[in-house]
Amino acid sequence: MIGSTSPVVGRSVELPADHPGVSDLDYRTRRGAIAEVGEQYRSGDPIPDVEYTAEEDQVWRIVSRELGAKHQRYACRAYLDGAAALTLPTERVPQLREVDERVHALTGFHIEPVPGLVPTMVFYGALARRRFLSTQYIRHHSVPFYTPEPDVVHEIIGHANMLANPLLADLYEVAGRASVRVADHDDKLLFFSKVFWFSLEFGVLLEEGELKAYGAGLLSSFGEIDVFRAAEIRPWDIEQMGTLDYDITKYQPVLFAAESFDRMVHDLTAFFDGFGRP
Ligand SMILES: [Fe+2]
Repeated sequence: MIGSTSPVVGRSVELPADHPGVSDLDYRTRRGAIAEVGEQYRSGDPIPDVEYTAEEDQVWRIVSRELGAKHQRYACRAYLDGAAALTLPTERVPQLREVDERVHALTGFHIEPVPGLVPTMVFYGALARRRFLSTQYIRHHSVPFYTPEPDVVHEIIGHANMLANPLLADLYEVAGRASVRVADHDDKLLFFSKVFWFSLEFGVLLEEGELKAYGAGLLSSFGEIDVFRAAEIRPWDIEQMGTLDYDITKYQPVLFAAESFDRMVHDLTAFFDGFGRP
């Protein structure tokens, strides 16, 4: 997850005024306790388990069941294959420890906990080391199909299932390496992050004449996955992806479609691999 750091006040977390959990002190305190696990974690350590509550497990159960049904219609084949290989639990929130073990066995990628939003380069830079930094908290139970910020549903259902595919795991790494090369160039880093957004977060592709999602943002969004085909679908154009502005608070009005999975992997790999080199 990328963004500015969520401040932890005492053992409760400050949330924005429009967050569904803002007036729920129990939830904010719970978020603080889960954040502490990520704060104390150091890369390479064994990942400590979080004892999820029955309510949190229920949120996971509801969301993963509903998203799983939608994936059958809207997710690309590589995602479905990755999810089938990973076989994450649907009845309870998976522990990052077990997600990490399974993803690593399949593709050599590691999943590591962080307390909350981390700075952009910390997140992208970790990808270059084949490490995906993941939050562990879950969205507020009052609105199981909505979250204003990436949570463990987004990280695991959206990203970890993709990282179970060897081609995509390599693609995430090569993207991370590109970000490291341009870390000191704001304009290039912005271009990079927009390409990442319109591909690995919100990318779509054609499969047997149908538009399918491979972006983690679409794959983890209960509402947007139903309507992404109604967006303005533009032809695959990395140059345009890198310059178009986007708004994270709304459904994406413009998406870029690769003509095939192979074309998406090939072109993005070539782009990231060459980006920021002299
Ligand atoms: Fe994401």
